[in-house]
Amino acid sequence: MKNNLKHIAIIMDGNGRWAQKRGMSRSMGHKKGASTLEKLAVHINDLNIEYLSVYAFSTDNFKRSKEEVDYLMNLFIEMFNKKFKKLQLKGIKVVFSGDKNGLRDDVVNSMDNITKETENNNGSVLNICLNYGSQEEIIRAANRYHNDLINNKVSINDINRDNFYKYMDNDLPPIDLLIRTGGEKRLSNFMLYQLTYAEIFFIDTLFPDFTTKKLDKIIDNFYLKDRRFGGISNEKKTNS
Ligand code: FPP
Repeated sequence: MKNNLKHIAIIMDGNGRWAQKRGMSRSMGHKKGASTLEKLAVHINDLNIEYLSVYAFSTDNFKRSKEEVDYLMNLFIEMFNKKFKKLQLKGIKVVFSGDKNGLRDDVVNSMDNITKETENNNGSVLNICLNYGSQEEIIRAANRYHNDLINNKVSINDINRDNFYKYMDNDLPPIDLLIRTGGEKRLSNFMLYQLTYAEIFFIDTLFPDFTTKKLDKIIDNFYLKDRRFGGISNEKKTNS
């Protein structure tokens, strides 16, 4: 049976190097990355894949220069206020994971606006991780569960690995396929809980050069994987 592909995640790495290789400022790489993301999100929606999660800005990215952080924040506002209208036309629903505390008010306003404008859309869900860290998200989830517990909404035995998802920033299904562009082979504090059984593809392509064609190739490879989730393959079961 064909593998189920419900949720794709992308660590969009390599924008800075893409720009520097061309003698441009790192910011230009982020700008090109934003239009790459837009194309990929539309394509994933066209393929009827229900969820796409992307790592737009980690909590640790605040360690970068003020100039780069400011550029990225302004780019987010621009995309959420204007350019992402293409996503709106396609019926994509935008949600955010991460900590809004610590973000500028104008950034939070643009996030809230696009969330509200797209909340009744029926296309795929684009989950943008912004000021995000996975360990921090798991701690937020534990706190939400603790609150339910002290308010007698749940009991101590109610929590399990499947329903813990509903305490996360968004109640999204487990990730089936993770792609990290830019050549590094690490997870960088990205959706660790949701990635438990994901198939992971690390590719050298820098994010701005990542195309829908390259994505299609990875998806074809994903379908060929024998996903066992800790069990044994169907082929082996019938042979034993
Ligand atoms: C990592 O590349 C990328 C980022 C920190 C930012 C990702 C942001 C975008 C793709 C912009 C658009 C996003 C939205 C949601 C509008 P890097 O800068 O670490 O690259 P490097 O490893 O080459 O330095």
